[in-house]
Amino acid sequence: MRHLSVNLVAACLVCALCALPAAAQSSAPEFHGPIPDSPAIEHQIDGMIAKMTLQEKLDLIGGEDSMFIRAVPSIGFPRLKMSDGPEGVRTWGPDTAYAGGIALAASWDPALAHEMGVSIGDDARARGVNFLLGPGVNIYRAAMGGRNFEYFGEDPYLSGQIAAHYILGVQSQGVIATVKHFDANNEEFNRHNLSADMDERTLREIYLPAFEAAVKQGHVGAVMDSYNLVNGVHSTENKHLNIDILRNDWHFHGIVMSDWDATYSAVGAANGGLDLEMPSGQFMNPQNLTPAVQSGQVSVATIDQKVRRIFRDAIRFGFLSNSNQDQIDPSIAKYSQLGRKVALQEALESITLLKNDGHLLPLDLNKVHTIAILGPDAWPAEPGGGGSSHVDAYAPVSFMTGLSDAFAGKVKVLYARGLPTEEEMFEQTEFYNVSGQPDENPWTGNEVKIESFDNPNFQGTPHVFHVSHILAYPGADRPAPAQHSIRYAAQYQPATTGDYLFLVHADGGDAYKLIVNGRTVIVQPSREGQGPLYAEVPLTAGQLASVQLDYWTHSVVPHISLGIRAVSDLVTPEAKKIAALADAAVVAVGYDPSEESEGFDRTYVLPFGQDQLIEAVAHANPHTIVTITAGGNVDMHRWLADVPVLLHNWYPGQEGGRALAQILSGEHDPEGHLPISLARSWEQNPVHDSYYPAPPTPEQMAKESYSEGVYLGYDYYKPSFTPHVFYKEGVFLGYRYYTTNDIQPLFPFGFGLSYTTFSFSHLAVAPSADNSATNPAYTVSFDVTNTGSREGADVAQLYVGDPSAKVKRPMKELKGFDKVRLAPGATKHVTLALDRRSFAYWSDAKNNWQVDPGRFVVYVGDSSEHTPLTQDLQVP
Ligand code: BGC
Repeated sequence: MRHLSVNLVAACLVCALCALPAAAQSSAPEFHGPIPDSPAIEHQIDGMIAKMTLQEKLDLIGGEDSMFIRAVPSIGFPRLKMSDGPEGVRTWGPDTAYAGGIALAASWDPALAHEMGVSIGDDARARGVNFLLGPGVNIYRAAMGGRNFEYFGEDPYLSGQIAAHYILGVQSQGVIATVKHFDANNEEFNRHNLSADMDERTLREIYLPAFEAAVKQGHVGAVMDSYNLVNGVHSTENKHLNIDILRNDWHFHGIVMSDWDATYSAVGAANGGLDLEMPSGQFMNPQNLTPAVQSGQVSVATIDQKVRRIFRDAIRFGFLSNSNQDQIDPSIAKYSQLGRKVALQEALESITLLKNDGHLLPLDLNKVHTIAILGPDAWPAEPGGGGSSHVDAYAPVSFMTGLSDAFAGKVKVLYARGLPTEEEMFEQTEFYNVSGQPDENPWTGNEVKIESFDNPNFQGTPHVFHVSHILAYPGADRPAPAQHSIRYAAQYQPATTGDYLFLVHADGGDAYKLIVNGRTVIVQPSREGQGPLYAEVPLTAGQLASVQLDYWTHSVVPHISLGIRAVSDLVTPEAKKIAALADAAVVAVGYDPSEESEGFDRTYVLPFGQDQLIEAVAHANPHTIVTITAGGNVDMHRWLADVPVLLHNWYPGQEGGRALAQILSGEHDPEGHLPISLARSWEQNPVHDSYYPAPPTPEQMAKESYSEGVYLGYDYYKPSFTPHVFYKEGVFLGYRYYTTNDIQPLFPFGFGLSYTTFSFSHLAVAPSADNSATNPAYTVSFDVTNTGSREGADVAQLYVGDPSAKVKRPMKELKGFDKVRLAPGATKHVTLALDRRSFAYWSDAKNNWQVDPGRFVVYVGDSSEHTPLTQDLQVP
């Protein structure tokens, strides 16, 4: 019998979900949880290991069938099942699609994170899952990071608190959580090969604390090593990370598993702290490791330790006291009502109001009779981004259907997508033959010339084909050699003078280069998967434009498409009409799973046509509300001043449409606060010059016999050099940079508007009972008052500054927060604790956390830029 090991009731006090009537919570699951480690467990494991052969041990440390730890039949050890994670149990069919991690962080509600964990653990038990592959806690550096939407934003403390509570929730249901991706998986650009390089202080202060909280506070059962290298060493063989820090400093006793195909050696990984290679033992297998053990390169004790960690987790979570089938709880409904409620609450708490000129929101439904909703993200629902986290929900609610259903009978909701789809762009583009004038050479349907070369450098005699559109390589029936180059050439005749949008989308990580009228306008180096890219090019009516698309592909069935359209024709006439006739217009812009995903980085500018759509709608309707679906910032400079209302809805999960309706109508007060800083531009972000690795130098290219084609199109899984990114900004990331340098971002970290107003007063800082010279510990208390006329929630944030430190430190660092929900006129007295670590920085010289005595400053407020209460503190 397994029992809850955390005090769930205490953890839930501030979560609005718990205010639901008992009937609404009736499907709340029974609680189970890990039993503490003990000498008896270690003794039991000794007995199990003693009965195993070396072959059995080496088999065990490589997974099987994509998502399983192998059984060891001779000792009755069952096969264990895994599932992604982190936004729902996705691997085994449809399920609850919870909000993205970044949305959960925007709720600033650890109790809600715990509820999500409980609910997801429940979903896992309904499907017999032993390990959930989540949460993901990598830090947000730049908007383009393809997996930001899964993670918890730019601040290590906020990320750590959300992660720890999520983990406690999952594990309370007898399911092992797996915190990932250890470490510094802060971009998807070339993720198998990129080395994230930084000094030790930056690593310890920014990129490790969320993992540390997962281990020390969340007691996570498993850690997943990332694809990338850290300081030149792959994570799966990085002794400093896996052994010095995780095991020795943090005393982590659970399993270290690899990300899927993130293991790059047998002995290196075995000695580098990796316990389990997933999805299979490609390197850590009997064939490679038996000789290594025999020759003494890898000790039997090292192998036994890995086996021990797998067994320890399994015993602590009760997997050995039941047959594996018992992990499935047949009494749990697969279509979870608890999941629906948690997902709705997440969307309600995370949608962040950033601008509300003239108090347009909440909408006055006595005056608003017609709402137009437009944009690619209005329908269908986009609960989450792409990749391994993507969950197919049973019944996701889009913004369009959510608004229409919620307002039925009161407000008419009109809908238009407003923009062509990618396919329409591609299919509706007509070209002219490169080898003749249109009048001499009437349209034949074969206007694009394709030259296909069997090498990556456009050398030799090509195969030549003609097709009507640049839609794909001709004839999947003609397998092409891998690593070949293809040149498409055509002419395009613009009907009017103006800017034209050229949209290109290649599948499968292929590289390409688009050249228009002799000028290169898009260069896409080879990436692991990628979204479409576009360029705007001015063309003159009637003058043929030469179009050349150079394409390097890995695939036998290469696939690339190009579409062209006048920018003035992008927004459909229908969209402009319904925007003009409605009393308010909602434009739902942003990304979808093909555009923002694991495996590649996204664009900073919104996908094609969306800026123009916002501009057109804002021009037609003064009551324009923009809502953004994205894992972070986007370029808003073209239209922000022209729209009165801006919401960031992140990836809101399956109930996003219901939540948006409640927020627009005022049924729910918006309460999301930014877990990231929104820079004014990509250039303003301190990461700007140290995000993309430098391309190989001519010397490197010469040394490696590279041509441009080889560099752009070469196999990204096996490059012959490692691109390095040095994190130049150090610890001055996000608001740590803006506050220290007195730079105003567009919207600061921690910021979010409400329909009501709050004030802060009565700050008091006092030593705690355990305060001493070696252990500075203080309590910070203050009042938060709802000074408006309706109920609402604010996020009280506590920052600490250390102006007298011997090293330069950020002006403000988040060290505590509390989500405060208040009736109008009500006040809450908030008390937060500061411990030694709240004052400490990582000293490279001492290789330890260091507190320099002297002056500290305590700041309290509701964003990193708005801290109305401050007090100096002398730490002896
Ligand atoms: C992802 C992991 C995921 C794993 C299993 C990998 O591609 O990076 O986050 O858990 O696949 O699906």
